[in-house]
Amino acid sequence: MSKAKITVVGAGNVGATAAHIAASKGLGDVVLIDIVEGLAEGKALDIAEAKGVYASAGNLTGITDWDMTADSDIVIVTSGLARKPGMSRDDLLAKNAGIVKSVTEQIVRTSPDSFTIVVCNPLDVMTYVAAKISGFEKNRVMGMAGALDSARFACFIAEELNCNIGDIQGVLMGGHGDDMVPLPRFTSVAGIPLTELMKQDRIDVHIERARRGGIEIVNLMGTSAYYAPAAGAVKMAEAILQDKKSIMSCCAYCEDEYNIGGAFVGVPVILGAGGVEKVVRLNLNDEELADLAVSVSHVRELVTVVDKMV
Ligand code: LAC
Repeated sequence: MSKAKITVVGAGNVGATAAHIAASKGLGDVVLIDIVEGLAEGKALDIAEAKGVYASAGNLTGITDWDMTADSDIVIVTSGLARKPGMSRDDLLAKNAGIVKSVTEQIVRTSPDSFTIVVCNPLDVMTYVAAKISGFEKNRVMGMAGALDSARFACFIAEELNCNIGDIQGVLMGGHGDDMVPLPRFTSVAGIPLTELMKQDRIDVHIERARRGGIEIVNLMGTSAYYAPAAGAVKMAEAILQDKKSIMSCCAYCEDEYNIGGAFVGVPVILGAGGVEKVVRLNLNDEELADLAVSVSHVRELVTVVDKMV
């Protein structure tokens, strides 16, 4: 692929951080767009100057004009409201659905061949909105949650085991909400199943903390997390741009996989130059399947609501 073009929509905390991470890695030309005059321009200029320190490749542009995003390879959608204390991710539904709809219409107009990575909440439903409005093939529209949630799970496990976080491969499924389904049987530490290394009661503590990982941060600082969410989105973009064929959890369209029957939810996938190239099918036990079904039914309820809005 010639030099990649990555557009990041929204120059708030998540968007600007994603642009910064992508730029520092030299992933390609990064375009940061926001409707607020001066915001994307200012942050892009700051990041461009930081690139003088990193000496990483690629240009950085901050704009308000969608035409300048034309022919992006990847569009990371971060625009939308973030949670405040006391709000669930679902509380953002109506406002963010409208934003994702209008952003997606611009993506279709300017970058009709791009891959879309949605990062705004409620994540699985906003991914559905982007897919519905764009009409893009399902492999080209996905949401970033699994990379974040499994990184959180890995962070807590590494802290307790006092081991290298890079050795931990966390696997999660379901919607990006309190009923997400971390899967300890499939989570490994340097190839060793987590269940061999940690007692179930401690695993349960970390599962609960991962499920509540977003609100833990909202309660600490009054707004949503952004370093880890941005890192997760860039990891997905990198897997696609560099055709890494990485297996990671992300919000992807599932039909007969796991009896999901047509919904965007978190599942392990292979991410490469074809976007979501494959949904990886694990042999879940009855309890895991039941937990997944609960999470999927919650996503479905919200999709029914949002379908009347967009
Ligand atoms: C979180 C938000 C970004 O989980 O959903 O932190």
